[in-house]
Amino acid sequence: MDAGKSVDERAGALLGQMTLDEKIGEMAQIEKNAIDARTSAAFNVGSILSGGGGYPDPNTPQAWYDMVKSYQDAALGTRLGIPILYGVDAVHGHNNVAGATMFPQNVGIGATNDPALAQQVCAATAAEMNATGVRWDFGPVVAVPQDIRWGRTFEGYGERTDQVATLGAACIKGLQGSGLGADDTSAATAKHFIGDGGTAFGSSTSSGPNGPYLLDQGVDQVDEATLLKLFLPPYRSAIDAGARIVMVSYSSTTAGKVHGDRHLITDILKGQLGFIGFVLSDWGGVDQVVPGNYSASLEQGINAGIDMVMVPTDYVRFITTVKSGVQAGTIEQERIDDAVRRILRVKFEMGLFEKPMPAAGKASDVGADAHRAIARTAVAQSAVLLKTSGNLLPITSGRKVLLAGQGADDIGIQSGGWTITWQGSEGEITRGTTLRAALAARLGGNLAFDRNGAFPTGTKAEVGIVVVAERPYAEGVGDSSTLQLPDNDVAVIAKVRPLVKSLVVVVMSGRPVILGDVASADAIVEAWLPGTEASGLTDVLLGDKPFVGTTPYTWPKAPADAPRSGKAPCDGAVYPVGYGLDSTSKLLGPPAC
Ligand code: BGC
Ligand code: BGC
Repeated sequence: MDAGKSVDERAGALLGQMTLDEKIGEMAQIEKNAIDARTSAAFNVGSILSGGGGYPDPNTPQAWYDMVKSYQDAALGTRLGIPILYGVDAVHGHNNVAGATMFPQNVGIGATNDPALAQQVCAATAAEMNATGVRWDFGPVVAVPQDIRWGRTFEGYGERTDQVATLGAACIKGLQGSGLGADDTSAATAKHFIGDGGTAFGSSTSSGPNGPYLLDQGVDQVDEATLLKLFLPPYRSAIDAGARIVMVSYSSTTAGKVHGDRHLITDILKGQLGFIGFVLSDWGGVDQVVPGNYSASLEQGINAGIDMVMVPTDYVRFITTVKSGVQAGTIEQERIDDAVRRILRVKFEMGLFEKPMPAAGKASDVGADAHRAIARTAVAQSAVLLKTSGNLLPITSGRKVLLAGQGADDIGIQSGGWTITWQGSEGEITRGTTLRAALAARLGGNLAFDRNGAFPTGTKAEVGIVVVAERPYAEGVGDSSTLQLPDNDVAVIAKVRPLVKSLVVVVMSGRPVILGDVASADAIVEAWLPGTEASGLTDVLLGDKPFVGTTPYTWPKAPADAPRSGKAPCDGAVYPVGYGLDSTSKLLGPPAC
């Protein structure tokens, strides 16, 4: 407890006092809905998480703070008083919290290609997290998606390794500020190690609520040199930027599940890269190492180098299984000590022993105007103008505008998955500004809106704006073999087209989609999944700010063209990665294919 001693000395001294039970508890991460504070303390659980949608009732900043504090108080009351670390997926802002600022999903941050902005976004995210008592983020995702049919494409910054490395490091600096122990910082997690976004189509053996996955949790069918070249650099940058936590990927290499791969986790990450922090497994990820055999799975996973296990529910089974493994000698005692030491070091470094909870009373930081302003800037910079004509854009004042499309007035659609719940959902799920509200504020009586494009007969306008949108999804649920937009949305284009002189289509999607009829529009704006501040879109549509965004993913001609690894930029592509226009049609990157 002597804060004057070094982190290593303190971790070593504390480890020396711990029983095997306390050590195993320290390595456990349990979902808050599966354990109450008293039980968590009774089992010396080291970490609690909120999974996607793991919010308290009511979903308010104060209830979050009280929830975290109740686990923390119970932990502090145990024999050794080791504080817990509470973790969440704050992947585009503190996204499980109602009223939080939802920033553009990472695909949009990739489109801005602006590290300073990425850092600001993540610093604001950390501030909102601290206001709710949470100091650990399971982000940033530093996947390098090579096939946009993957449902997690939007969680990644883009398909180029170097860009992911730069933006990931910037986010980590934003989350962790001047240091892990400083006020309002959040410990970052670089995830998912390794090969995230590199799995082969059809190689997944997992399934989710809507059936089998296609790519998610599948197999990276490349040799190790290729795997490391594509996917390792973002981890090197993350570690250089101060990342102390790495989450393992659900996916496999040809050698098997990464969760059981000692070579990758221990030799490469901890050895070659010199990672001194701790390695966290993914949600139930260890269980998959040896299918149907939990004890063999845990043995192999922990011996491979996993330090903390996202169990996430059955803590009794976890604790008893690890204990018998250690007693039988199938789980190395040395590994347990190393794992606990690594976890404790991070807790000491974060100052949790001195200050187990961030300052109370900061609820108004959640969804604060200053953070929404950053989000609005990010939205404006993330919009990619794919096509335009004449001087259609910006839409000058005085012109009459018809607006249509489901996504034009729906906070849930514009925010995507990982918003309030794991999968996200349509509708008014949190506070924010839709495109309709943002346009109405600027155009007043010159704006007419109909969700379905069913305007009264005789309606005419100079400009039509139709929003077409992917519906919210997360993880393998979003794996897609077609990359199609919903037919209903595309049908709205045909309804509005005859009523207007010029048609602008705004696409809201987590990845490039097959454009089909969208391609006939006079202008196409890819807005990605902008989050709660669609006023950033009016900033570019109405010309208050220039279009600066460029696509971080290649735009494939057909779904079969989606895999990019090893292909030339224009091979099977409509637009190459890095493509974008300003409103005068000037190229911001390479030309269309
Ligand atoms: C995801 C992780 C996430 C975890 C906790 C898993 O399904 O793969 O990215 O951090 O759940 O919500
Ligand atoms: C949780 C997510 C988690 C997922 C894993 C969901 O029930 O809410 O956090 O990532 O399960 O499959």
